[in-house]
Amino acid sequence: MVAITEAVSLEKQGEIGMLWIDNPPVNALGFPVRKGMADGIDMAMKDDTIKALVVICKGRTFCAGADIREFGKPPQAPHLPDVLKVFDQATKPVIAAIHGTAFGGGLETALSSHYRIAVPTAQFGLPEVKLGLLPGAGGTQRLPRLIGPEKALPMIATGNPIGAAQALKEGVIDEIAEGDLAEAAVAFARKVLAEKRPLRQVSAMTEKVEAARKTPEIFADYRNVLAKTKRGFEAPEACVKAVEAAVNLPFDEGMATERKLFEGLMRGSQSAAQRYYFFAERQVAKIPDIPKDTPLLDIKKVGVIGAGTMGGGITMNFINAGIPVTLVETKQEFLDRGIGVIKKNYDITAAKGKMTQQAVDQRMGLITGTTKMEDLADVDLVIEAVYENMDLKKEIFKKLDAICKKDAILATNTSYLDVNEIAAQTSRPEFVIGLHFFSPANVMRLLEIVRAAKTSKTVLATSLALGKRIKKIAAVVGVCYGFAGNRMFAQRKRECDKLVLEGALPAQIDKVIFDFGFPMGPFALYDLIGLDLGWSKETTTSDSIRDLLCEQGRFGLKNSKGYYNYEKGGRKPLPAPEIEQLIIDFSKKKGFTRRDISDEEILQRCIYPIINEGAKILEEKIAVRPSDLDVIWINGYGWPVYSGGPMFYADLVGLDKILAVLKKFQAEQGDDFKPAPLLEKLVKEGKNFSSLNT
Ligand code: 3HC
Repeated sequence: MVAITEAVSLEKQGEIGMLWIDNPPVNALGFPVRKGMADGIDMAMKDDTIKALVVICKGRTFCAGADIREFGKPPQAPHLPDVLKVFDQATKPVIAAIHGTAFGGGLETALSSHYRIAVPTAQFGLPEVKLGLLPGAGGTQRLPRLIGPEKALPMIATGNPIGAAQALKEGVIDEIAEGDLAEAAVAFARKVLAEKRPLRQVSAMTEKVEAARKTPEIFADYRNVLAKTKRGFEAPEACVKAVEAAVNLPFDEGMATERKLFEGLMRGSQSAAQRYYFFAERQVAKIPDIPKDTPLLDIKKVGVIGAGTMGGGITMNFINAGIPVTLVETKQEFLDRGIGVIKKNYDITAAKGKMTQQAVDQRMGLITGTTKMEDLADVDLVIEAVYENMDLKKEIFKKLDAICKKDAILATNTSYLDVNEIAAQTSRPEFVIGLHFFSPANVMRLLEIVRAAKTSKTVLATSLALGKRIKKIAAVVGVCYGFAGNRMFAQRKRECDKLVLEGALPAQIDKVIFDFGFPMGPFALYDLIGLDLGWSKETTTSDSIRDLLCEQGRFGLKNSKGYYNYEKGGRKPLPAPEIEQLIIDFSKKKGFTRRDISDEEILQRCIYPIINEGAKILEEKIAVRPSDLDVIWINGYGWPVYSGGPMFYADLVGLDKILAVLKKFQAEQGDDFKPAPLLEKLVKEGKNFSSLNT
């Protein structure tokens, strides 16, 4: 075995050279790997005793792509496309032997080899688009040549991976290796030599791209798909353009087009935001005072209190992960209804062919419904998901403290209330925590973990691990009204409600927010959530637009009328001139002189206070770092990932500009816009929020 660089070595197994890559954790193609690959292949080609070369990785995976940490820094030669050109043009067979994830530059390495063999669990993908990029080392040119543009397009433009069986079927790989991969790869290489198989250069394949020239409509069709699914993203369109180049241009010219598009994306802010988000999503799980080896509690069985929308959704998370749930309601009829809704959700999924009936039955079999709290005596974790009433929650926690095992975690799903106050009702505040799911809880990826004053490290670490187990992105926050997400969100809500009184109409505000990249505007969202949430006939005041709408029986999407009108059963907001008039009349009655409000003002008033509140939250140490707030907004509130979340976006805009605008609004509108001291401090020091990310 000869070490070529610290990450690459060359071994000989008889006449077969083995180019081993060893760059933990994911064998990213950083400089030592690229240099080692370039020099290694050169050595192997010059060594007459080597007749074929296997490229293979140590550790948990084949190369999972370029080293994203190098992006944005001056590139260091040898560059990946140049290294892969040498692979492609090698004079002896090159075989990629794949396990784990051949992603991005890793798959491009495999595509530049002459043959590919993989273990049955291997995955293949070009996820660059998720980083706001496109495959920049020939992936957009080679994959269409190998499997045809129709199959290559979705892989490149969505970034979703495929498994080994599909890869074999579609011709991405040549063979699946049973048993030891290295042995299988050597045997495969010997077979290639014995059978005198040709050097299969993917770059020289023309049949599939030539055939596709007769069906140019595949690109228009695919662009239509992207318009619906990837609104606002720049990279997917660049991916389509690159694949078009693969179809219409000779290989070298296609490669030049790919490079130009790649570099354009790399310079843009969307890719900077998406690359930032990649690391933010991994960083959020790291809590400075919770070491990796913090002891964990074993969560084998969970209790959920409340079988309403929230409790039902929460239950689905656990049974999806194979964890049995005891679901508690006050009355059998509520329990039956709640379990019925869960079953219906699964049945819909099964009817779409996305789940088998057997899986539905198996999951439903994990639910034990009960009306007796005492049945929670054997669970390891209880999540209370009843409506927001402090007295009720206190009473429940007192009971739980008496009923549950002494080391069971007692969690509340409250969205706003003081978890310390709830914990104080128990004799074990160190076992009390907030697990704040977002609605619909079975769909939304965000989980805010609310660390109360006395929550133990073990309980926090266990909750983080559990979050991962149920496939959530968990962010740890501290106790305050609304925690991090809803506290920031309240800022936008307040401004939207003010803006309609001052002169804007819901449709204008919704368009501004939708065009910014949120899936829907605030008023369409109110309609979706239900205007009557927390409203009652008995307590209505007729002193807000929401009260007036509810008094007219306009509860939102659920009864096809709210801020907007809806066709029966339809979801598309339609203009409601009668409500616009109601808003205008109400604002005049309240003494407002309505004015035209620019889209720019709407955007700034909706977004900048969110950022300002984020700064206050950081100052109060409610959140660990700015990027955690971005993770919360992207996964819980629909912030478009291509602008990185509110704190990253603030850095993009410039904190000095944000501060100046907040001060202007403060002068005009009062202290709703009072800048956070942290924001003032960062501007004074010439720093940004990213400088606080640890
Ligand atoms: N570059 C740098 N670091 C990377 C990386 C990469 N491509 N991929 C993963 N890492 C790091 C992570 O940041 C993490 O670091 P940490 O431990 O310090 O937090 C560590 O490796 C482990 O990663 P995960 O926590 O994500 O581990 P998982 O086992 O959950 O997932 C994975 C492994 C599926 C490989 C996942 O990490 C992944 O999807 N990686 C990114 C793949 C990707 O986007 N590749 C394309 C890169 S761009 C490219 O190739 C351009 C080319 O076309 C020119």
